[in-house]
This record gives sequence, structure tokens and C-alpha cells, in this order.
Amino acid sequence: MKVSAEILNLVPYKTGKPIAETKREYGLTEVYKLASNENPLGPSPQVITAIKNALDQQHLYPDPSCHDLIQKISEKWNVPTTQVGVGNGSNEIIDLLIRIFCEPGDAVLTSQAAFVAYQVCAQAARVKVRTVDLRPDLTMDLKGFADHFFRNPSAKIRLIFIPNPNNPTGTSVGGSELDDFLVRLGNRDDVLLVFDEAYTEYVRNPEFKAAAQFYQKYTNVLVLKTFSKVYGMAGLRLGVLLAPEYVLEFYNRVRNPFNVNDLAQIAAVAALDDDAYRAESQKITWEGLDYFYSELTRLNLPFYKSDGNFILFDTKRNAQTCFVNLLKKGIILRPVANYGFPNYLRMTVGKAFENKKAIEAIEKMLAEIPEIS
Ligand SMILES: Cc1ncc(COP(=O)(O)O)c(C=O)c1O
Repeated sequence: MKVSAEILNLVPYKTGKPIAETKREYGLTEVYKLASNENPLGPSPQVITAIKNALDQQHLYPDPSCHDLIQKISEKWNVPTTQVGVGNGSNEIIDLLIRIFCEPGDAVLTSQAAFVAYQVCAQAARVKVRTVDLRPDLTMDLKGFADHFFRNPSAKIRLIFIPNPNNPTGTSVGGSELDDFLVRLGNRDDVLLVFDEAYTEYVRNPEFKAAAQFYQKYTNVLVLKTFSKVYGMAGLRLGVLLAPEYVLEFYNRVRNPFNVNDLAQIAAVAALDDDAYRAESQKITWEGLDYFYSELTRLNLPFYKSDGNFILFDTKRNAQTCFVNLLKKGIILRPVANYGFPNYLRMTVGKAFENKKAIEAIEKMLAEIPEIS
């Protein structure tokens, strides 16, 4: 059977190594996973109650219109219901947007070392990915994005993905650079600007501007949100698309009618009402990041300050070797060689005691693996 070159060459998205697998492979009983930017608090207690109360209706198909959920999002985020779409994680929305708005041979534009799902979804749809280099401080070069778009009219760039903040770098963009970008590309009818805001709730950069606050001013600005991070629902799979009505009209035509399962819909309604859980998620993340900043400084390991719930740091060693060494110590981090950082690891903020265990393991590892000279 013939398969396209794009599919043959597709490198699948590599997820964080599961805890159970690590325990099995290394014969460990205690393993901590700080590898997938999950929320270490566990689900909100209100979410757990809502799920338990809905277990006896799981023989029924979910509400295909996600009515109650969209209504709640509309109220809480102050957006019209007609501008809200939902997906099986924001990953599914990325996939569908590419399939809806790009034809094979068209292109999407994003940053070097941007969240890898854009590449995987585009390649699967036989769509090209063009990238703009990061700046030396690993921030995205939005001016470079706009320049690239105008310099390459024949590239057929249909979507521009702006992960803000980006994963795995943890950097965000904002200020006048974002304003200029919108002046140059906002309201065009030949390209959509997709702000992927999976981590916005964790941002402390004062220059940052959430696209949810300005997308309604533009006919071509889309926002992706997820319930996998600050809402602590990664396992339930729920992403949200905020977009102009015409985009949602296409989106709802293409999506599977039951793409968001019943428990995810019910859980998200409860999660949106639990302000205390969200505040606690932010608090432990910021405390954890500050702890990592001071400990990595003490260990003399360079890192980038993060606006996400994770940190990218330089091991000064081969990161794959470090990753395996840490696995043996029961700590799962994330190698990021696929993003062009062969010596770096990405570490998610966990609970305070998990962060401490990770740092202790890293300190031991540094003594066991010689630094690259
Ligand atoms: C930048 C970014 N966007 C989107 C996602 C996907 O989130 P979801 O779990 O909603 O598919 C992630 C997940 O890590 C991410 O880092």
C-alpha cells in the first residue's frame, strides 16, 4: 500500500515516560514524573465529586453540542458562546485547524523550537512547516514572523502558530512587539494567527498580553486554551478554541460530534467554578519555579526563566545520558534534543517534596556524569 513521504518520515510525538513503565524497567517502587507539564495537585476536589456523580450516565453518548460547558466558558471568560469551540485536548484543535485551512503543499509558520504538535499535525496533513529562529534568549521573534510572511508570498502560509508561552522554552512575548505584529498581520483574510495559550495562567512577565483579551478586535486571531494545565485535567482531554464565528462554523462541521467525552464536559464545568484550586495551582507553580531558580543557580546549571509550569535547564552534559541516570533514581524529566537542545532537560514543577527529590537526584547525577568540556 502506498503511503506518502510525509507519513513515512513522520516522527511521532514522543510523550513523557510513564511512571508504571519506569517502575517496571528499573525495578523501582518510588518514581516521580516531572516530565509532561501536568498539574501536581491532582484534580480539583470539586471535579472529583462531579465525575463521581456522573458515573451512572456513562452508557449514554455525551452532549455533542457541549451546551453546558460552552455556556459556562462563555460566562467565566466573558466571550460569546458562538465564539467557543471545544476539542479532545488542544492537540485535536491544532490538528483540525490545519486540516480545515491548509491544503497539501500549503504551509504553517511558527518558531524554531515551538511546541512539536504543530510539526506533527502539519506533516500528517502534508503541510509544510516554516520556522523563524529564536532569539539568543530563546524568546520568539514576532517581527521575524511578520517579515517571513511578507518575504515569502509564494509559500502559501495559511496559519501562524504562536505558542505564548512556548513549550519547551518557557518564554513568552508581549508588549509593543506583539502590538506591531498585530498591526502588520491582524485582520488579513489570507492567514490566521493562532495564539496557543496553554500556560497563560502561569505567566509572570509584565509585558505579556493574553490573546483572549484582544482576539475579538481581529477577524483572524484565534486562541487555544487547555484544561490540561492549571485546571488539572490532562487525562480527561479538553481543549478550547476561541475564534470568530466563521472559523467555528467550519470547525464544528469537521470535528467528530462526540470529540469531548461526558466526564470531561462535566468536570470542566466544575473546574471553572473552583477558583481556589486554580489559585493554589498557580501558587505552587510559582513557588516551585523560584525554588528551581535558586537551586539550579546553586548547582551552577544555566536555565531560562519560565512563564510556564516547567523549566528548561542546561545539564552541561549529554542530556540523554542524564535522563537515563535520573530514571534510575526514580525521577522522570524530559529530554528535548528533538527541539534542538541536546544538552538540556525540561523539568515540570511538582509538589514541593517532588521538586526537592528532583534537585537531590540532579545533584547526585552531576557528580556521576562528567561535564562536557
Ligand atoms: C504549548 C502547548 N500547547 C498545547 C498543548 C496540548 O495540550 P492538550 O493537553 O490540551 O492537548 C501543550 C501540551 O503540553 C502545550 O505545551
